[in-house]
Formats: sequence, structure tokens, C-alpha cells
Amino acid sequence: MTQQRQTQNSRIDREWWKEAVVYQVYPRSFNDSDGDGIGDIPGITERVDYLDDLGVDVVWLSPVYDSPNHDNGYDIRDYRAINEEFGDMADWERLRDELHDRDMKLIMDLVVNHTSNEHEWFQRSRREEGEYADYYHWVEGEPDEPPNDWESLFGGSAWSWDDEREAWYLHVFNENQPDLNWRNPDVREAVKGVVTWWVEQGIDGFRMDAISHLSKPEGYPAGDPDEPGPSGSEHYTFGPRLGEYLDELGTVVPDGAMSAGEMGGADADDAREFVQRGDCLDMVFHFDHLDVDQADDWTDDNWGEWSLPEFEELMTRNQREVAEPAWDALFLGNHDHPRIVSRFGDESERRRSATCIATFLLTMRGTPYLYQGQELGMTNAEFDDLSEIDDAMTVGLVEDMLESGTVDSFDDVREAVNYRSRDHARTPMQWADDEAAGFSEGDPWLPVNDNYDEINAAEARADDESVFHHYRRLIDLREDDPVFVYGDYDTLVADDEQFYAFTRELDGERRLVVCNWSDEPATFAPADFTADDTEVLLANYDDAPTDPVGATFRPFEAVVYAY
Ligand code: NOJ
Repeated sequence: MTQQRQTQNSRIDREWWKEAVVYQVYPRSFNDSDGDGIGDIPGITERVDYLDDLGVDVVWLSPVYDSPNHDNGYDIRDYRAINEEFGDMADWERLRDELHDRDMKLIMDLVVNHTSNEHEWFQRSRREEGEYADYYHWVEGEPDEPPNDWESLFGGSAWSWDDEREAWYLHVFNENQPDLNWRNPDVREAVKGVVTWWVEQGIDGFRMDAISHLSKPEGYPAGDPDEPGPSGSEHYTFGPRLGEYLDELGTVVPDGAMSAGEMGGADADDAREFVQRGDCLDMVFHFDHLDVDQADDWTDDNWGEWSLPEFEELMTRNQREVAEPAWDALFLGNHDHPRIVSRFGDESERRRSATCIATFLLTMRGTPYLYQGQELGMTNAEFDDLSEIDDAMTVGLVEDMLESGTVDSFDDVREAVNYRSRDHARTPMQWADDEAAGFSEGDPWLPVNDNYDEINAAEARADDESVFHHYRRLIDLREDDPVFVYGDYDTLVADDEQFYAFTRELDGERRLVVCNWSDEPATFAPADFTADDTEVLLANYDDAPTDPVGATFRPFEAVVYAY
């Protein structure tokens, strides 16, 4: 549903999801209402007022469907049922209504590249029952010889042998997550049925999981050793019929609904192409900007090293080549990534660096996403042993390296694990300085971060200078000012090691954002730039420079100006 708004000089394709700020809830770790140590839907409902106070417009719920939880709900056993640990459909309806009553939207995670191996479809498929026989990628052969050399993104072969059917099945993720065979039109109809059913339940859109892997080439050609990544991933990512499948999926995504596709492996060109393609995807999560601090190998010791100019170059490319011509998802973290302050900020300057990053994120073009706890400046945890890790990806990959002898012990990969583990983002939400951080009255399924006495929502809400209140003010600012949503972007000091500074402009209205993204003071001296009549709209220090050009900005000082 596109409404067009005529402003002085430019036409803007207004959409509610462009003007929204999204908040991602990882239900298992958000809030436990019944004391079993696992977050649940009534627990989320209890916190709707908190989200409303923060000012976010949309809640993206990571999967809440019935699941055996080998990948915490990203392995779905029944698309039309709620995981018993989280509640039931009546609980879900209450959450939906509480959100809608406050003019907030609800989007669901759509995981349809794969199902759980406990899904009825897979059970019937392995028994070769009628139409289900061809619902997954099955290849006959010998039990000791997989069909090809494809590797899973979670470690080991991408093929597992099924004793019941006596054949191999494909899984891009772990062995409990068999890939659906999208070549089969019955599968596509069944998936569209799931989409339609959830739309009928009154949701406002989808975040589409692992969408770049839907299409696999006929004949499953062997991996090319010159290609980066797990063997064969060049075949099972952006496969030949991906666009066609997305177009078909788009036919059941209603006008006015929001859809964001997770596209691992996509760069700016792919992201733009798939958003511009048609009706399926309004925006894409692509991770090229998050590659800046990745080492090449698990045994390397430079995990987490990154440079601001390189990061800025990638973000600027995304602004110019994705967000402006199409649209983009603005994010620096989610349930699969380390905590943002630990990664791109400075834990010893937590409050300033978190608010600096927040300022940058909420003033760019695109739809901003906050991941739970980001608004509190929550930080990473520490992992001393593989047994402390729940994350199926990290466990799978490390076990595979240990088994194959690529590494001798956990010590060889400790740094990489401490950098990469998805559990950093999954430690329970820190609500208060109470037992289990106020997350649960029971024993949390994953230990809470020890720093909950200092970092928690109760404390943050009581302190006007907190990260929480800075996010709240930024969200307010963005919602009242279309320049931040729709304005053009230009970068000012591209090669600077300390400053990330940019302008936004819409119909002659101009904004300037100056972030000293470093722990040292720095003088802002952009070439060929002047700004008259500057007005400070928001700052993370008192007494921000009123005249930015030539001024010294303190460590992690971030100021938003109108000029
Ligand atoms: C991407 C999700 O974000 C991640 O958590 C999950 O493990 C994989 N897709 C598989 O569904």
C-alpha cells in the first residue's frame, strides 16, 4: 500500500515500515513469566508497556512455533502451533492485541528454507508417502558416500543419511533442519498456505529466514575449491530459481505488510536487486558491513579488529546503492551476532560508545532494527569451555574442527569462540538488579551476564542519562522528522580514523550527524564543508559544540544538528 506524499520538491514513496523502528525479541531470553527459566509469550506481553515507552513501532518475534529446539526454534515442527514452553495460541493472540492496542505492529519469523526433521512433512517424506516423498532433497546412494562435497553452514557434510528411507537428505544448517525442496510446486503451495494462515491471524509482516538458500541447482554440482565459504555454498546460496520463488512467495504477502528477507552472502548489489525486483521483499538483511572485523580462520588471533574508514565505506555504499534507490534494513546486531557495544564500541566507555552507535544507527536512511538489550547497552559474555555454549552453530563448527583434527583443543579457537558465539546475544535480558536479573524466578536456561547489577532496565529507566533514554530520544527525533527517514545521505570525512560524520537532506531541510567514534578527543575539520546556523537537536554529552566545524569532540561524542 503505497501512499505518496508531496513535499515541496520531492515525491516520497511513504510506507509505514520505512518510518518505523523495529525491535527484535528473542523469546527464549526475553522474559519468563512462569519461573521455568525459559522466556515465554506472557512474559513478552508483560513488557509491552516497556517497549511502548521506548517508542518502537514494530516487534519482530523470533520463532515461537512448536519446535524440538535444536536451533532454538529455527527448526519448526509445526508452523501453526506455538511452542508449549512459550504458551499457546491464546497467549499469542493476547500479545498481538496488546501490541495493536498501542498502535504497534507484530511481524513473525518465517523459516521456510528448512523444517525440523520432526515436522510431519519430513516424517512422511522419509516414508515416501504420496505427495510428501519429494518434499525434501533426497539422493539415493551408499551410506558411506554422500552425494557430493557440500558442507553445511553449521559444520560437517550438508548431507545426512536417513536409515528409514535409505537415502541422503540435504541440510544447509544442522542435520535436524532438512531443506525443503522448493523445486516441488506442492512445497511452494504448502509454504504459501503457512504465510496466508499467519496473515489471517492478523500479523503485519514477516522476517524471512535464510531466504538466499531456497534454490538449489539440479544435479547438485560439486563445490568449487576456489570459492570462499563452506564447500558448495556458492551453489546453495543464490541458486538459479531464487528470484522466481520469491516472486511466487510475494503473491501471498499482502500489500501493506512488511517483509524483510535475511540474505546471508548478499552484497549491496544483491540487496538492491532483490528489493527492486518486486513484491516479495521490502528490505534485505545483508551482512557485508559486519564482515569488517572477521578474521579468515578460527585459529587467527585478529578476531574483532576493524577500521572505521573501511566500515564507513561499506555503510556509505549501502546508503547510496541500496537504501536510496531501493530500501535497506539498518542493523548492527541480532540474535546471531555479538553485542554491539562489545563489538563496535568500548566496554570501558559503555554509555558513551553505546549512545554514539545509537546516534549513527537511528539517523541513517533505512529501517532501523534494535535487538533486545541493545537499548540498555548490554555486553558480551565470556566462554571458557565448549560445554558452556548452547549455540548449535558454534558447537557444530568447533566439534567438526576437533573431530577432523583441524584444531587440537578448545584453546586453539577460544578467541574466535569468544568473539563469535551467538550466545552473547542470547544471555537473558537484564531487567533488574534481582536474582537472575529479573528475567526469571527460576534457573535461566542460559546464565545471565554477571554485570546485571550495573546494566539493567530498572536502573536505566530511572536515569535520564542512560543508554535507554538516549535511544528513546533518538526514536522520537526520527519519528518527528522525515529528513532522517527519507533524506539523501552524504558522507563528510570518508577516510577519518575517528569521525563518522554525514549529512541528510530533504527538500532543503538539512541535518548533520557528527560521531567521534573513538576513545580520544578529536577536532572535526571536514574539507569544503560549512554549516551555518547550526542547532543542536540531540547530543550524548552536556554542552555539545554548537558550531561543529573546527570544534573538538570528546570520546564517543555524537551530536545531531539541524543547519
Ligand atoms: C538464520 C537465523 O537467524 C539463525 O539463528 C538460524 O540458526 C539460521 N538462519 C537457520 O534457520
